[in-house]
Amino acid sequence: ARLDGSGLIALPGLVDPHVHLREPGREDAETIRTGTAAAARGGFTAVQAMANTSPVTDTAELACAMAATAAEHAACVVIPCGAITQRLAGEHLAELEPIHRAAGTMCFSDDGKCVADSQLMREAFEEVRAFDGVLAQHAQDPRLAGPDACCHEGELSARLGLPGWTTAAESAIVARDVELAALTGARYHVCHVSAQPTLDVIRAAKARGVRITAEATPHHLLLTTDLLADLDTTFKVNPPLRPAEHVEALRAAVADGTVDMIGTDHAPHAPQDKAKAFVAASPGMVGLEQSLAVVIDTLVRPGRLDWAGVADRMAHSPAALLGLTDQGRPVAPGEPANLCLVDPEARHAVDPTDTESRSRNNPYAGRDLPDPVRLTVCLGHVTYRR
Ligand code: NCD
Ligand code: ZN
Ligand code: ZN
Repeated sequence: ARLDGSGLIALPGLVDPHVHLREPGREDAETIRTGTAAAARGGFTAVQAMANTSPVTDTAELACAMAATAAEHAACVVIPCGAITQRLAGEHLAELEPIHRAAGTMCFSDDGKCVADSQLMREAFEEVRAFDGVLAQHAQDPRLAGPDACCHEGELSARLGLPGWTTAAESAIVARDVELAALTGARYHVCHVSAQPTLDVIRAAKARGVRITAEATPHHLLLTTDLLADLDTTFKVNPPLRPAEHVEALRAAVADGTVDMIGTDHAPHAPQDKAKAFVAASPGMVGLEQSLAVVIDTLVRPGRLDWAGVADRMAHSPAALLGLTDQGRPVAPGEPANLCLVDPEARHAVDPTDTESRSRNNPYAGRDLPDPVRLTVCLGHVTYRR
């Protein structure tokens, strides 16, 4: 069937450097099939799958098993992210180079827990340096924002009696890892930057020539901490939603390139894991299907980012991080394409049940947002069409 593309914008296939697909271990919340179907609906043709599955992706064998499942069921390219430490326990390094060799993995992360041991982190930086891999950090000093931290530390956390998460817990550990990246010459990627002081650390590191990249999530570009006032666990996420001045600083940093790319941190959760007291509920929100929509409303429509900028922050830059160097480049005739077609004007009220994801923890429920993606083509195959 033909598609009338008049009025539509062609973008390279989008690339998401940060998704949780929950397989293996929590297939009730998401699978590689359902998560990548959501990705295709969001315009994505490649995603990096974080390591905090069960079991954790900490061996070459497990990374290859994920790649094999993806080859059979996925609607987009899936790059497994490796764990920095065995079982993400923060004590012993995982098989970094073997995972890279076996599965093409470029990034290693300690998602959900930051490595508190600076010497162990130095060793991890040195190991990834050997194959020019990347250390991708969750960016939380667990000594400054403990395991129960769930609300931006400030007036609201005090009023609600919630354990606070100071912005210093993010900026301080990023500053340490900038020094380790400089010391070892390794590449360093900052996951889900949420706070203004961290942006200053990243700017200074880039000015020094440190090999650093950073990502921001759509929810930190749109949503603010006051949404926690009713203790709705949909809005519980790591790192927490921040006040408006941080949101504004983050938008400016995406616009000026201090933040290189958008990463959704798509974190599907089963209903029973959200139907708990705020402190006990699982952190995280879905994001794949609304990521481009949020970027359009927060950056494109206000005139702060043009479409070439969108292609850079949502395709070229994450593709370079993951080693997908052909992604987004002009495709020669006959080569399989990765692209999406976008209607910049279409809008709708977000319905969390109208989704390819297995989970419904959508923080945009009921919001009026763009509904841009009309077609996604991954490696020459139509993976989504509306
Ligand atoms: C992540 C998840 O659900 O896997 N949640 C989140 O809020 N980002 C884990 C984590 O980073 O804490
Ligand atoms: Zn994280
Ligand atoms: Zn994450």
